[in-house]
Amino acid sequence: MSGHMLVTGASAGIGAALCRRAVARGWRVTAWARRSERLTDLQSELGAACHIATVDVTDAESIAAGVASAVATHGAFNAIVANAGRGVDGEILDLSVNDISAVFDVNVLGVHRCLQATRPHWADKARIIIVSSIVAYLSIPRMGAYCATKHAVDAYAAALRVELAASGHHVCTINPGTIDTEFFDVAPTPGRQWTWRPGQALRAERVARAMERVARGGHRRRIVLPGSAYAVIALARLCPAIGERLLRRALGRMRAAESAAEKPEHP
Ligand SMILES: NC(=O)c1ccc[n+]([C@@H]2O[C@H](COP(=O)([O-])OP(=O)(O)OC[C@H]3O[C@@H](n4cnc5c(N)ncnc54)[C@H](OP(=O)(O)O)[C@@H]3O)[C@@H](O)[C@H]2O)c1
Repeated sequence: MSGHMLVTGASAGIGAALCRRAVARGWRVTAWARRSERLTDLQSELGAACHIATVDVTDAESIAAGVASAVATHGAFNAIVANAGRGVDGEILDLSVNDISAVFDVNVLGVHRCLQATRPHWADKARIIIVSSIVAYLSIPRMGAYCATKHAVDAYAAALRVELAASGHHVCTINPGTIDTEFFDVAPTPGRQWTWRPGQALRAERVARAMERVARGGHRRRIVLPGSAYAVIALARLCPAIGERLLRRALGRMRAAESAAEKPEHP
């Protein structure tokens, strides 16, 4: 199956990669993000099959305008990919309520706004794809607030899947490990650098391929990438104490290195 696919967060990373993949596979695509110049470049590359709109998923009015122009251009939505997301870095109690609410606003409420606003225009047997993360299965220190958003969208998707089952719409979460995108280049919180910058990363095209496959059909409820990440999930689920001990040690090493770097040199 193909048809009309909506991709949020399409100006970069896996969203942009998915738009390229989907158009190459015959989809009509609507691409949403805030950076309109990036979207214009994407449209020049992909042509008329790619409709673009400047949409901020925290802003209901821009979503409503985006839905209207998408439906007028490409018709009802066959697949909705709620991908727009951002991070936040820092130990939980160092983050302000504003820091935490801003990341929930995009990663959780942004998904809800987009699904609710598009709902009247879903085609028969629409595919709902919600981009979560491997961190929906485990919480990493100094990324706790981001991890909480991904736990939340996983829980949201699980209930939605059951609620929509009778209507024939299918809900799938994508739970990738680290991906080689701009995610870690975008400042997690103004004035702060990411603590974790994982070395090994999936290619965005690989994740996009898996997403497009789900959009076309199949009944997978979640897709974890890479396959080896199942070992991490098994550790977190079956031996949480061991997982926590490893994370505690890593955090201890990080704090020790930071306080050594802060100490003045010996005269
Ligand atoms: N990279 C990773 O390691 C990784 C791993 C697991 C899961 N994920 C998830 O994958 C998704 C995509 O991330 P990525 O890795 O492709 O990162 P990315 O390259 O930074 O792309 C993020 C996209 O989200 C958009 N976005 C952010 N805030 C938005 C808002 N308020 N309204 C509309 N669009 C917004 C950005 O566009 P504008 O800035 O132009 O609005 C951009 O297109 C996210 O949900 C992320 O949590 C990433």
